[in-house]
Amino acid sequence: MNLTWHKLAESIEEIPWNANNLAEIEAAGRSFCLARHNGQVFAIAPKCPHASGRMAGGVIDGQGNVVCPLHRYKFCLSNGRNVSGEGYFLKHFPLEWREDGLYVGLQKGFLGIF
Ligand code: FES
Repeated sequence: MNLTWHKLAESIEEIPWNANNLAEIEAAGRSFCLARHNGQVFAIAPKCPHASGRMAGGVIDGQGNVVCPLHRYKFCLSNGRNVSGEGYFLKHFPLEWREDGLYVGLQKGFLGIF
């Protein structure tokens, strides 16, 4: 895959996590929602594909799904699959830890339309 990498944060402590281990953060002029679960960090679209609920306002369940705050649809953090069965797909992005911080990979030409 043809990706360009953009720095999100210097360290995990720098990310503004809320009490539910979710954060909204900007990079490359776009917003991302970050999720922290079982020692792993995931990057997903900031808005729900159903009706644009802010994913950072949701919660993470015990199976590693993010639950949208508006209508409680659930999406797998690692692949974006809508595990509650409504047929939507949540965009998710590859992350990479490097010596100088956390990077998100975007496909070349990605316009940031979620
Ligand atoms: S806006 Fe997310 S479930 Fe409806």
